[in-house]
Amino acid sequence: MNTEKKHLTIAIDGTSGSGKSTAAKNLASVLGIEYIDTGAMYRAVAYKALKEGIPSDDDRAVGDMLAQTEIDFVKGRILLDGEDVSDRIRTLEISRAASEISQLKSCRAKLVEIQRRIASQKSVVMDGRDIGTNVLPHASHKFYVTASLETRAERRLAELKEKGAETTYEAVLKDLRERDHSDMTRKLNPLVRAEDAIAVSTDDLDIGGTLAYLLSHIDR
Ligand code: DC
Repeated sequence: MNTEKKHLTIAIDGTSGSGKSTAAKNLASVLGIEYIDTGAMYRAVAYKALKEGIPSDDDRAVGDMLAQTEIDFVKGRILLDGEDVSDRIRTLEISRAASEISQLKSCRAKLVEIQRRIASQKSVVMDGRDIGTNVLPHASHKFYVTASLETRAERRLAELKEKGAETTYEAVLKDLRERDHSDMTRKLNPLVRAEDAIAVSTDDLDIGGTLAYLLSHIDR
């Protein structure tokens, strides 16, 4: 019997608020492998740039900052220069800044390098926007997760309210629409479904249903 474990690289891309992160986290947990939230990496970079007063559209300054920056994942938490910033990066302000900073060449180059290194060392479920198309084009499995703008806005609003944030459905909808636009139209590695990715719409799927669907495509 072959008891050797397969090296799994599972790429999950999709729009903001589509449920891809929850699905990716659950999938990693069931498979007993690491979950890498690449959006959190862009958010961490945006957080540091904001803190240091570096404009999120200044490629050279952000590149210089990143040469002095360490980003790591430990037990599902994101560490920025050794500090756990996982909770602090979940604000609308950081969402906007992350969307902007993720357009910079210096930022993408550095983060993609870290992402590829992690995936070469261990089995991962990695979620983001360009994982199946750019970071791991030879991933063992690829999924593209979406849901309607309205469904995503409702979910995101509930999430933010639970954390005590004061915002409205309209504000969240506007933010998601703008982020979709910037993620899908940016020059470098825009959000697009990889030709060989399995499309998953979560409009009519709950968390359990989404997980079951993903698992049904994974040969363990
Ligand atoms: O998934 P998220 O909302 O946490 O991502 C934050 C921003 O980072 C989002 O606007 C797009 C960007 N991003 C990216 O460009 N590439 C990735 N692989 C992941 C996220």
